Amino acid sequence: MFVTILMFIIAYFLGSLIPGYWIGKIFYHKNILDEGSGNIGTTNSFRVLGPTAGSITLVLDLLKGTAAGCLPLLFNSNINPMLVGLAAILGHTFSIWIKFKGGKAVATSAGVLLAYNPPFFIFVIAVFIVVLLLTSMVSASSMVAFSSAVLFSFFYHDWILLVVSIILTTFVFYRHRTNILRIKNGTESTIPFGLYHTI
Ligand code: G3P
Repeated sequence: MFVTILMFIIAYFLGSLIPGYWIGKIFYHKNILDEGSGNIGTTNSFRVLGPTAGSITLVLDLLKGTAAGCLPLLFNSNINPMLVGLAAILGHTFSIWIKFKGGKAVATSAGVLLAYNPPFFIFVIAVFIVVLLLTSMVSASSMVAFSSAVLFSFFYHDWILLVVSIILTTFVFYRHRTNILRIKNGTESTIPFGLYHTI
């Protein structure tokens, strides 16, 4: 029991690490909470700080989810990595370092998926890339990719993954509610490549 609680606490604190925010503050003297979409994640780091900071944020946000998902292995516990990963995702979205504000749960959740089931991770990333090439919208691609995870876990007959995917997808949609409004209004920001930009 003690080990399980310890893993959840470590996972929460891993998820709480906010590279996008700290890179912005330390190296660019910018607060990404106040610029762009105000999100601390990869997309807003690219938008506000540029490709180097955006790429580093992506890798670190992803890896903290993967590290959390690997904790059961490290502690020799048979608790499902997806459950421990949920604590990291909560840490990322409600970070203790920025008054419980945080990201939209995309990269860190993907990192947890990578730890849990690499082929599943590749499937979700492939869906993300296809939708991104079609729509040029990171937000729409994130939401569709997570929805596809629900479908895939159903066909995979992995019921814990199915339940966690449903929770994650609901959460990802909830965190993207301002993006959904912008998509409806036709004002959502887009990336400078993809089909949307070539027609
Ligand atoms: O990863 C978050 C992304 O889906 C949307 O980010 O900054 O455009 O709201 P943003």
